[in-house]
Amino acid sequence: MANLKNSENNIPEKICEKIKHIAFIMDGNGRWAQKRLLPRSQGHVAGLKTFTEIVKYCFKLGIANVTVYAFSTENWNRSEEEVSALMGLLEKNIDENADELIENGIRIIFLGDKTPLSKTLAEKMKRLEERSSHNKGILNVAVNYGARDEIVNAVNALISENKTAVTAEDISEHLYTKNSPDPDLIVRTAGEKRLSNFLLWQAAYSEFYYSDKLWPDFTPADVDLALENFMSRHRKYGGY
Ligand code: IPE
Ligand code: IPE
Ligand code: MG
Repeated sequence: MANLKNSENNIPEKICEKIKHIAFIMDGNGRWAQKRLLPRSQGHVAGLKTFTEIVKYCFKLGIANVTVYAFSTENWNRSEEEVSALMGLLEKNIDENADELIENGIRIIFLGDKTPLSKTLAEKMKRLEERSSHNKGILNVAVNYGARDEIVNAVNALISENKTAVTAEDISEHLYTKNSPDPDLIVRTAGEKRLSNFLLWQAAYSEFYYSDKLWPDFTPADVDLALENFMSRHRKYGGY
């Protein structure tokens, strides 16, 4: 999976040179379920299937870093029922799919503070990070992630190292994403056009792509559309 190139689509081979990191704000699971008169948790079940398919596809294209926003620091504001359904799905997914990811050369890193999570879930997450740490393709899964929390956490870590002045590099190196370059492309589904506290620091020069599709309806062909669009853009970084 990680080192395979895809030859069945229109994405040129050079894609993985131009895009080292793609990030997804997987939005719209709730609306997908509501449209079908299903409980929101069923939308998350469908969203998990999409997550698996899209992540595999991105690695198949040769993209070295893939990040997904799975649960934000603000998502605790949802009902206890929905939060526990989401946590349950995460745990089940680790139990059932971790081995396949590891065998396919993927390193899983969870972005976010694990402290408020259940002890069992936090342990499983840590264990998976350790078991996959030798792999090269990075899958960052943001769980209890908030970019403001991440920056505060980085600053506090620097203070505890007795730093009295810091550089931008110091901050980058203390973020949860320290193992990945900044995202080249951030894709958000379900028609919303906001960051919702995702990668605020790292997104300084990211390109953005919005899809009206709800996350459970998002397909590899939609990834192709996003990448084709990305490839046509001219990134200037303040220059020309
Ligand atoms: C994204 O889908 C998944 C999470 C935030 C956990 P939503 O649950 O936000 O779906 P909508 O936005 O309510 O449709
Ligand atoms: C952002 O989606 C978080 C995730 C996708 C996990 P939300 O649905 O929580 O964001 P808002 O509330 O619409 O901004
Ligand atoms: Mg949403």
